[in-house]
Amino acid sequence: MQLQDKGGISLSSAEEWQQATAIFESFTDGFITLDHEWCITYLNLQKHSNVSGKATEHLLGRRMWDVFPEAPGTIFEQQCREAAEKRVNVSFEVYYPPHTARYEVRIYPSSEGISIYFTDITVRKSNAYLVKQAQAQAILQERQRLARELHDSVYQELYGICLSANAGREALETEPAQSIAALERVILHANVGLAEIRALLFELRPELLETEGLVAALNKRAEVLRARYNLAVDVNLGEEPDISIESKHALFRIAQEALHNITKHAHASNVTLRLLQEKQELLLEVRDNGKGFDPAGPFPGHFGLQSMHERAASLDGTISIESAPGNGTTVSSRLPRIF
Ligand SMILES: Nc1ncnc2c1ncn2[C@@H]1O[C@H](COP(=O)(O)OP(=O)(O)OP(=O)(O)O)[C@@H](O)[C@H]1O
Ligand SMILES: [Mg+2]
Repeated sequence: MQLQDKGGISLSSAEEWQQATAIFESFTDGFITLDHEWCITYLNLQKHSNVSGKATEHLLGRRMWDVFPEAPGTIFEQQCREAAEKRVNVSFEVYYPPHTARYEVRIYPSSEGISIYFTDITVRKSNAYLVKQAQAQAILQERQRLARELHDSVYQELYGICLSANAGREALETEPAQSIAALERVILHANVGLAEIRALLFELRPELLETEGLVAALNKRAEVLRARYNLAVDVNLGEEPDISIESKHALFRIAQEALHNITKHAHASNVTLRLLQEKQELLLEVRDNGKGFDPAGPFPGHFGLQSMHERAASLDGTISIESAPGNGTTVSSRLPRIF
């Protein structure tokens, strides 16, 4: 066999040809060369020895379309002809039903015919598909969460404003005192709504955590707790910590979940939010005086505590929860200072 110009590369010796072949085979899963009559002159499908289901040595010298009778009429045949007739490189992806596999195929014209390289991309493609699906699912969940937040927060306040404004207008001439009380409720609802919107903006625009800071974001959450839930909230946050934006996001989300849990489960009257900057680590503490619970218990189908642990662990930090039924709850999140 004339060992020249395989796959567009000029190869002057059998040794060079073997070296080049070894290289091609190391990054592809299959390699076939065809002459101008479509006869197989070289074939290595070792990584996919079942590509043909036939022993490869018996295939040398046979016509491609006899060996793979399923190929004629497919995109594979069209692309082989395109490369051979127009002397151009082609590459495409094709699904091969006998393997239930997807291949990336690259075809290069050579002086002897064409060289075809196959790479099995089934796993890569299905991983990419799964990642896309997970991203779409995450976006949907986040939208649903924000819709719930809007419904439970701003929507309720606007509704309260409408009700109180109507009551105020009706009482304006006959019951001026009631009208004034209604107006005061309008002002209260409007203030709560503003606090809710400010807090929501931090969630919708994460860069605000960078520009305005973690301390401001936590303060806004505290305002919402006071305004919407009538909780006494003690805040002791100190200076804006000098940590990465990832750490700020993690701490904000952890605090937010701990505070959500307080409003959903704790029946507390007091909440303390503390940020302590130590030399080696940063401590964020969220404490309530509510009904407490057993943090060791399994909570199937509930993800808040689990995601707090995961967020802290992703930055080499930890979450510890001290709680006992009837005794309130303290969630402490520690992140190493290097972040
Ligand atoms: N501060 C708290 N006070 C009392 N019970 C709490 C408190 N925080 C958590 N819990 C209990 O721990 C359970 C698990 O909390 P977790 O945040 O994982 O789930 P969830 O809040 O019920 O649901 P979600 O997945 O929406 O967060 C809660 O269902 C609740 O019983
Ligand atoms: Mg929760």
